[in-house]
Amino acid sequence: PMPLPLFPTAEPFLPKALSLRSLKLASKSCQGCPLYKPATQTVFGTGPSAAPLMFIGEQPADQEDLAGKPFVGPSGHLLDTVLAKVGIDRKSIYVTNAVKHFKFEPRGKRRIHRKPVSREINACKPWLTAELQVVHPYLIVPLGATAAQSLLGSNFKVTQSRGVPIRNTQWAPCIIATVHPSSLLRIPDPKLRAQSLAQFEADLRAVKKELDRHR
Ligand code: URA
Ligand code: SF4
Repeated sequence: PMPLPLFPTAEPFLPKALSLRSLKLASKSCQGCPLYKPATQTVFGTGPSAAPLMFIGEQPADQEDLAGKPFVGPSGHLLDTVLAKVGIDRKSIYVTNAVKHFKFEPRGKRRIHRKPVSREINACKPWLTAELQVVHPYLIVPLGATAAQSLLGSNFKVTQSRGVPIRNTQWAPCIIATVHPSSLLRIPDPKLRAQSLAQFEADLRAVKKELDRHR
């Protein structure tokens, strides 16, 4: 028998033949870490299997957990709006998350988002690396520190390095990190929020420019 891993990992749940179909199907049964228990379902990535551009969020939120699709709630709407504004077609990109199950704390009828810890991010990473192997994007856009640090290490600072192309990485020819759209939605001051939104837009314009350069 296979020895049990000493740390939580999705590895034993991955299929032998890698395709988006086989990965998505297998991910439904993942018990690689304890997050599968309270969640509704695994939220796997969506999009074309040869997308030149891959967006990676943190983890599904409340609405994504219920719908089984990434970025369909408030963060997704904001992302869609900005993508349209800078001229990127959401249907042409592959969208996924660093962690495939919703982590939350029940509070009354509500479920409050909880940040995944490195143990959970590492456990789920085999799904992400398999998606990267299949999709093989030219450009990766990590949204927020969780996704960025999953690929670039825990010393990577989104605030310092956002919007700047990082070339020749082990994951793709180019990575451009930016903040998570949910961080914009949480800014209470309207003026500050508008400023941060403009900065997010500028980062996605850099993404569009890099993509056009590659074509
Ligand atoms: N936030 C994320 O990081 N991913 C989603 O899919 C939704 C919200
Ligand atoms: Fe598996 Fe990832 Fe879900 Fe953990 S969060 S059970 S590793 S799919």
